[in-house]
Amino acid sequence: MVIKNGRIVSGGMTFLGDVLIEGETIKAVGKNIPEEGRCVIDAVGKYVIPGAVDVHTHMDLQAGQCRAVDDFYHGTVAAACGGTTTIVDHMAFGPAGCSLWHQVKEYHRLADGKAVVDYGFHGVIQHVNQEILREMGEIFRDEGITSFKIYLTYDNKLSDLEVFQVLERAKELGAVIPVHCENDGVVNYLREKFKKEKKEMASFHPLSRPSRCEAEAVGRMLHLAAMAGNAPVYIVHLSSMEGLKEIEKAACEGRKNIGVETCTQYLTLTDQCYQDPKEGLKFIMSPPLRSQEDCQALWKGIERGLIDVIATDHCPFCYSGDKQLGAEDFTKCPNGAPGVEERLSVIFSQGVAEGKITIEKMVDLLCTMPSKMYGLYPQKGVIQPGADGDIVILDPEKERILTKSQLHSAADYTCYEGMKVRGDIDKVIQRGRIIVDNHQFLGKRGDGKYIKRGKSILAD
Ligand code: URP
Ligand code: ZN
Repeated sequence: MVIKNGRIVSGGMTFLGDVLIEGETIKAVGKNIPEEGRCVIDAVGKYVIPGAVDVHTHMDLQAGQCRAVDDFYHGTVAAACGGTTTIVDHMAFGPAGCSLWHQVKEYHRLADGKAVVDYGFHGVIQHVNQEILREMGEIFRDEGITSFKIYLTYDNKLSDLEVFQVLERAKELGAVIPVHCENDGVVNYLREKFKKEKKEMASFHPLSRPSRCEAEAVGRMLHLAAMAGNAPVYIVHLSSMEGLKEIEKAACEGRKNIGVETCTQYLTLTDQCYQDPKEGLKFIMSPPLRSQEDCQALWKGIERGLIDVIATDHCPFCYSGDKQLGAEDFTKCPNGAPGVEERLSVIFSQGVAEGKITIEKMVDLLCTMPSKMYGLYPQKGVIQPGADGDIVILDPEKERILTKSQLHSAADYTCYEGMKVRGDIDKVIQRGRIIVDNHQFLGKRGDGKYIKRGKSILAD
């Protein structure tokens, strides 16, 4: 396959040229690559970018009594249609006291033979003992699972001691620890308090998880990582200006080994979404949406290089189904929302087309840095010889209105309903095959490959 005369964006540059893919791999990038006998794709006037990488999804997640509605087939079809050709999925917690292998095996069962894009998993640590610390090494080595998520809130949160033990082990292995940062004590106290006071509408969800809960936990985590010898740590779904200030403090100290992720929704939606007591349920997620000021602070954080990755935290539930559990009491609403398909369109439109970031920066945030953070680079996230032939062809001039009926998640809504976006995904190519053409999914169930990942750049 040869993609001709596109505006190729990779490695911080944009240049006019062709991409030659042989089999599953990029063979050459240059000018005037001969067409004879090859499948030719005309990319004149279009951007040619690496397949996007989403390092924060929750396919088929069991969360309490509810299960996310996208399994690895539907969720990855949505990813593919949104230009994402690789995901790294965060596993759900397993049964109390289970070994670290339990969820690894369970997730292979859930994903293998179903996923249509390439995929990896983050391990999840829900308690700590010598056996778990040993299994981290085995799983790192045998499975290429080189990141292990921990939570500072929810029922399976780790204590400071457990966090510290995990960080020391991660440092030893060269693993990275993604962490969900919220102060559990305050969040639970406020949820209970609002319940007693009958403040049970969606609008109390953000008030029950204030920004400083995030900031306190981010700060604590960064101090613990420093004390563990600058263990590699990655803050997931940063949502607030207060949280960003903690990142900035660490950056001013010259700290390295820290990765920071925000998500599409924290850059583009606000807590106004909770004002409608019915519709507000669609946006119940943790951390919650914040103010316009927070959105602006996060865009600034991107500009200043404090934020490395934009992911999605795709965790869809149906509005007409499980989300209604929260109709009378927001604390009963399953947390999470869809977004894996919308990310590239929304960020191109609100970021690049509106002049907040360059196209090169967008590629860095959605493709290259996620790959580097999680040991997928240079196989993924870059257009250069030797990389997988994962490409998105994006038409910057076309406009589109995002609407649920044209999206592919099994959720019955999109958080971006009616949003007019500049830029349209023309084609998505995975390892040399066109899997999406003009929004039509052409791939096959089970064609996604499990990827054993290498070390994160944070572990260098
Ligand atoms: O509300 C969210 N984000 N649900 C998914 C699980 C998590 O906290 O990441
Ligand atoms: Zn998540």
